[in-house]
Amino acid sequence: VAPMASKALGVSSARSFTGTAPAQNKVTVVGAAGGIGQPMSLLMKLGGKIDHLSLFDIVNTPGVAADISHCNSKGKVTGHKGAEEMATALDGADVVVIPAGVPRKPGMTRDDLFNTNASIVKGIAEQCAKSCPKACFLIISNPVNSTVPIFADVLKANGVYNPQKLMGVTTLDVCRAKTFVAENQGMDVDKVDVTVIGGHAGTTIMPLLSQVEGAKFSEEDIKALTHRIQFGGDEVVQAKDGAGSATLSMAHAGAYFADKVLDGLNGVEGVKECTFVDCDLTDAPFFASPCTLGKDGVSKIHGFSGLSTFEQALVDDNVSALVKMAQKGSDFVKNN
Ligand code: NAD
Ligand code: LMR
Repeated sequence: VAPMASKALGVSSARSFTGTAPAQNKVTVVGAAGGIGQPMSLLMKLGGKIDHLSLFDIVNTPGVAADISHCNSKGKVTGHKGAEEMATALDGADVVVIPAGVPRKPGMTRDDLFNTNASIVKGIAEQCAKSCPKACFLIISNPVNSTVPIFADVLKANGVYNPQKLMGVTTLDVCRAKTFVAENQGMDVDKVDVTVIGGHAGTTIMPLLSQVEGAKFSEEDIKALTHRIQFGGDEVVQAKDGAGSATLSMAHAGAYFADKVLDGLNGVEGVKECTFVDCDLTDAPFFASPCTLGKDGVSKIHGFSGLSTFEQALVDDNVSALVKMAQKGSDFVKNN
């Protein structure tokens, strides 16, 4: 059976390398035995671009790694379980993707996960600072609006923070936006592009529908689609009815984004994706916008312009929430 390779990720298999630097291809997944971690690791293995896929979790990783390693696509897979094996799992990683932590149940906000996930993410950041300080860190664990600032502050405290290499994964918001817009407009989903800025929680998720090429929305469409994109996570949480939140769509989004980060690291030019990064676009210390991904991580933050009145009002109304959520993360690191 031919490996599904890049087709599964919707990317071209041809890569042009520039320069003579060796390919940067060790990827560690932290939380690899979870609902996201397992299918995301599978997709990464099938992508065929990773030389060493290192799977870390506090439980079950030997089994997950053995299972995935039998897929006939390029790359070695290793499994590492428990705190004592975390350093080995991370050692030499070029990219670390982190879906570790508890998911929501109906009635919860992402911020309700803070008490549990803040300390999980802080602990992971502390080990990353020691074992692979130069890696790109892709944070999936919620609440992203606070966990990314936590990760940044731990790296800062260890003197190894590089803002170009820390990214909150907001790709699922873009996936949802493309899917819902294509449905609404009767467009080919493969040809739809939607920029989503801001953060990753409720109304801090801000799709720029006025900038979708080829689309014509009514005012009601704009309101309904914006709301559905902002609360797409809740739609899945409710449908799963207590069994967790988005895992399969997130696995796709996470594997896709990691693939793009690797492309950038390995010299592919013109890789541009929305991601939540350290920037001064607004008063919030972290904000998502389209970014060029290059050899050193985020090489250019494109920001946003030309917003509709509706979109500008969203930004104006949500920056203070982003500031508070970032502050909550920073306070946690300061006090723990
Ligand atoms: P899950 O409970 O199925 O899996 C989480 C995994 O993390 C488990 O296997 C658990 O053992 C592991 N884990 C816990 N502590 C750990 C530690 N210290 N080190 C390593 N692994 C550890 O949950 P899930 O459905 O996979 O979701 C994981 C996280 O991703 C949640 O916080 C969820 O809210 C978030 N999420 C984010 C997005 C996004 O768009 N950014 C989308 C979906 C889910
Ligand atoms: C999502 O957007 O699906 C995730 O952030 C998980 C959640 O809690 O909604």
